[in-house]
Amino acid sequence: MRLQHKLKTLGQTGKALLATNFYNFETLSGVLQAAKANNQAVILQLSESSIQYLGLPIATALAKQGLAEYGVEGWLHLDHGSSPEMAHRCLDAGFDSVMIDASEKPFDENVKITSSVVKLAERYDANVEAELGYVAKLGQVQKVSQYTQPEEAKRFVEETGAHALAIAIGSAHGFYKETPQLQLELLSAIHAATPAALVLHGSSGIPDNQIRDAVSRGITKVNLATETKNMFMKTLQQVLRDNDEIDLRKVFPQATQSVVKLIREKLEVVSPH
Ligand code: 13P
Ligand code: ZN
Ligand code: NA
Repeated sequence: MRLQHKLKTLGQTGKALLATNFYNFETLSGVLQAAKANNQAVILQLSESSIQYLGLPIATALAKQGLAEYGVEGWLHLDHGSSPEMAHRCLDAGFDSVMIDASEKPFDENVKITSSVVKLAERYDANVEAELGYVAKLGQVQKVSQYTQPEEAKRFVEETGAHALAIAIGSAHGFYKETPQLQLELLSAIHAATPAALVLHGSSGIPDNQIRDAVSRGITKVNLATETKNMFMKTLQQVLRDNDEIDLRKVFPQATQSVVKLIREKLEVVSPH
């Protein structure tokens, strides 16, 4: 099923898709093993820096072949695409979905850039995610003044035709200094104002009960990156502290298994059985 249709049907069920970033074969494998074990669908995301790290053809092939091999329903998505050109490259490579993040631009310019990507993506029957309001990037502090406004969200989606919308409701990328408080009333108001699939960015560090509440109020895509990456590296560091094994094939699987455990838990939070 096309991702845009899947997100739409999920909206009626009180469940969401987990969208997690992967960085290398091992983190991808951990996510796929988790999705298979839970018998759940998953969105595989690549940031531009991960695409640069892996190379676009290899990154695409890994994800696509991985989904087929594991028999997992899933989609490949460009996370925080910074330009229509990058979105175009990913669509040509076979991505199912692209994010165009022009959230730092003024409203009208965001509309213009996002519209051009929606038009482009039609040729590929691909899903397009945009961002309105601004979710703090790594190391920044989320500002209340940058929260998404329901009326603007409505107009933005009408004018652009974006299928999915990343909204700023109190989350931020990376870990938090203090426990975040998602603005659930604001989320409900945005959900009532627009038919677009709503996306929660910055899920690392958000308590499970708040993620559940957000899903019950209309979030259908939950983005997780930092926790996945950190779980892999922290486990690897621990394993290497405890022994001096130098065969990577003996140490990586332990880090991969810690990702499997994390993702199985997160899948259960966003889409309880
Ligand atoms: P976290 O790194 O906080 O999980 O945010 C992920 C994200 O929003 C990717 O787009
Ligand atoms: Zn994000
Ligand atoms: Na976060």
